[in-house]
Amino acid sequence: MKDILRELDDRRDAARLGGGEKRIAAQHDKGKLTARERIELLLDEDSFEEFDMFVAHRCTDFGMEKNRPSGDGVVTGWGTINGRMVYVFSQDFTVLGGSVSATHAQKIVKIMDMAMQNGAPVIGINDSGGARIQEGVDSLAGYGDVFDRNIRASGVVPQISLIMGPCAGGAVYSPAMTDFIFMVKDSSYMFVTGPDVVKTVTNEQVTAEELGGATTHTRKSSVADGAFENDVEALAEIRRLVDFLPLSNREKAPVRPFFDDVDRVEESLDTLIPANPNQPYDMKELILKVADEGDFYEIQEEFAKNIITGFIRLEGQTVGVVANQPMVLAGCLDIDSSRKAARFVRFCDCFEIPILTFVDVPGFLPGTGQEYGGVIKHGAKLLFAYGQATVPKVTVITRKAYGGAYVVMASKHLRADFNYAWPTSEIAVMGAKGATEIIHRADLGDAEKIAAHTAEYENRFANPFVAAERGFIDEVIQPRSTRRRICRAFAALRSKRADAPWKKHDNLPL
Ligand code: HXC
Repeated sequence: MKDILRELDDRRDAARLGGGEKRIAAQHDKGKLTARERIELLLDEDSFEEFDMFVAHRCTDFGMEKNRPSGDGVVTGWGTINGRMVYVFSQDFTVLGGSVSATHAQKIVKIMDMAMQNGAPVIGINDSGGARIQEGVDSLAGYGDVFDRNIRASGVVPQISLIMGPCAGGAVYSPAMTDFIFMVKDSSYMFVTGPDVVKTVTNEQVTAEELGGATTHTRKSSVADGAFENDVEALAEIRRLVDFLPLSNREKAPVRPFFDDVDRVEESLDTLIPANPNQPYDMKELILKVADEGDFYEIQEEFAKNIITGFIRLEGQTVGVVANQPMVLAGCLDIDSSRKAARFVRFCDCFEIPILTFVDVPGFLPGTGQEYGGVIKHGAKLLFAYGQATVPKVTVITRKAYGGAYVVMASKHLRADFNYAWPTSEIAVMGAKGATEIIHRADLGDAEKIAAHTAEYENRFANPFVAAERGFIDEVIQPRSTRRRICRAFAALRSKRADAPWKKHDNLPL
C-alpha cells in the first residue's frame, strides 16, 4: 500500500518539475516565472485544485512516444481570488516550449467548459511556441476547439488573457477573442507572422519586440489592454481586476466594503473647469474624486488617451466609467477612441456592470485620415454600443457636448437613465465661433458684428438650460455634489429592467 502512495507522490513530483531543473533555470534567467509559480501568485494561498496532472500526449511521430511528459505543457485547474472561484490554465514553456498538442488543447477545453457550466471566469496564461509541430493537424484541431469555447464563453463568463512569453501565429486568436489581454514588458510578444516572415514578404526589418511587444500592442495596435513591468506585477494586477468583475452573466459584480462617505462633498470640483473654454483640464481628477477611496482600474490607459475607460466602485458596487479627456485632442471622438470605448461599453453591458459617462466632447475629429479610416463606421460602434446597453446608465456633462458626439455619449436619446449637467455645460450643435461663421457668413468681414453674433450664440446655447428645458437633461447639478448625485442615481437603478426587441443578434457596425 505504502508503495502505491509513494508512487503517486513520485509521479506528482515529476509532473510538478515540468521540463526539469535546467529548463526552469532558463525560464528564470529570462526573468519569467514558471507556469506553477504564476498560478501560485495569481490565486489565494493553497486554493489551487489541479486537473489532468497526468495527461500525456498520444503522438507517435518523430520519436515523440519516447518523450511523454506528464501534464503535456499546460497546468490547468481552479482556485480562488479573494475567495471567489476562477478557472486557470497556465502554459508551461519548460515542457516542449508550451506547444499546443491535441491533449494540451483538451485540457484547456475541459476547464473552459467547466467555467461556463459553473459560472466562473477563465484566466489564461499564455507562454507557448504555438502549434506542436510534431502533431500537425491534430494540434490545429485542438486550437479550433479552444477558439470554439472562447466564442461560446464570450458574454457568459469573463475571459482574461495574460501573455507572458511567445504567442504567435494562429494562436493569437484565442486571446484576441477574450475580454481583456494583458502583457508583460520585454518578455512577451504576439504576432500573426514573425519578424523573419515579415522580412521575406515585405522586406521590413523589425524585432519581435517592435513587431508585437507590450509597448506596440498597448500604444499602437490596441490589441492589449495593459502592460506590466514583470510577472509578479501582472499577476497582482489581475487579482485586482477580478475583484471588480462578476463571476458570470448570471451574477452581479461583488459588493466590497467601502469606507468613503457617499455624501462626500468635493469643493475643488467647483473650480475644475477653467474659465477659458479652450483650456484643458484633467478628467481623471473628476473620476478619482467621485470614486470610492479614489480607486480606479484603468483599461487601455496607453491607447486613444482622448477617452478614458475603466472601473471604479460607488458604494462598494462596480461601475464602468467612460470619460472624454480634454487634455488629449481636446477630448474629440475619433476612430481609436470610439472603438476603445465601444468595446468597453459592450463588456460592461454583457456583465451587468452599470455605466457612468463623463462628457466633455467638442465633436468628432476632422480630417482625411479619419474619414478614409472609416470614422463613420467606427463612431457608429460607440453609438450602437451605448444605445444597445440596457444596464443602468448615468451621464454627467461637465462642459462641451457638441453635435453628433453629444448624442453618442450616452445622451437621453440613447436611453440613458439619469442625465446630469454641470452649470458649465454647453450643449449645442457646435461651438459658438463655428456656428456664427456659418449662419452669419455675410458678416464675416465685420469683426464687430461677428463678435456680437458669437456672444448671442453663446448666450443662447453655451449652457445646459436649453437642453434642461426639454428634459434632455434631468437636472443641473453642482460639481461639488457629483459623487452624492451619481451614487443616488445608481442606487435608484439597482432593480432596473429594460427589454430589447427579440432578435437573433444585432448587426453591430463592425
Ligand atoms: C514543438 C517546440 C515548439 C513547437 C518550441 N518547441 N516550439 N516543440 N512545437 N511549436 C520546443 C523546442 O524544440 C525546444 O525544445 C523548447 O520548445 C524550447 O524552445 P527554444 O527554441 O529552445 O526556445 P527559445 O529559444 O526561447 O525560442 C522560443 C520560440 C521558438 C521563438 C517560440 O521555440 C520557436 O520559434 N518555435 C517554433 C514556433 C512556431 O513556428 N510555431 C508554430 C507556429 S504556427 P528542447 O527539447 O530543445 O528544449 C501556429 C499555428 C497555430 O502556432 C494555428 C492555430 C489555428
